[in-house]
Amino acid sequence: MKIFIDTANLENIKEINSWGILSGVTTNPTLAAKEGKEFRLLIKEIAQVVDGPISAEAVAMERDEIVEEARSLSQIAPNIVIKIPIMPEGLAATRILSREGIKVNMTLVFSVNQALLAAQVGASYVSPFVGRIDDISYDGISTISDIALVYGNYGIETQIIAASIRHPLHVVEAALAGADIATVPYDVLKMMVKHPLTDRGIENFLRDWEKIKNLK
Ligand code: G3P
Repeated sequence: MKIFIDTANLENIKEINSWGILSGVTTNPTLAAKEGKEFRLLIKEIAQVVDGPISAEAVAMERDEIVEEARSLSQIAPNIVIKIPIMPEGLAATRILSREGIKVNMTLVFSVNQALLAAQVGASYVSPFVGRIDDISYDGISTISDIALVYGNYGIETQIIAASIRHPLHVVEAALAGADIATVPYDVLKMMVKHPLTDRGIENFLRDWEKIKNLK
């Protein structure tokens, strides 16, 4: 399972990218609004940092306007993917865009049926929102495993991005459920790398090394 970062904060993206583990970035209007920067400039800067798909969301609600906005956003950099909410106009726009070779990440997905529809129109990615499904007392991870099963049954190539990840266990569960990608917030990525036994192990090794490092 590949790891994307789910943020529009350039400093956080640069820091995690320096670990060498990032395969892409997802943003949404809420994440972009936190940065207080012109949207296209922000996306351009992110696309210059990370060598992988960068999702930028279209906010138009009508088919032809979504297509126009998507075409324009895709000009920002070659690695831009257009996030489009699953809805009838979004599906129709994705059908047009996928035929033009513009990659779409169909977002705000909460059910297997929505994921199945996204695949019909050639979406490159589908983003089920695990945490928000959990928020309404359903099981976000089972939605991921059900989509993975259905896609596997039919050899569907749309990649599943486990989104709305809230904690490290969501990442483990998304990987076990068959997600192709997890898009993970900065704080959760920082938690993923930490383990108290690793910290204690490093401390002990460094202390013991001090005892022998000057021996001849
Ligand atoms: O990628 C979608 C994600 O940003 C939504 O996360 O925590 O707002 O449900 P959240």
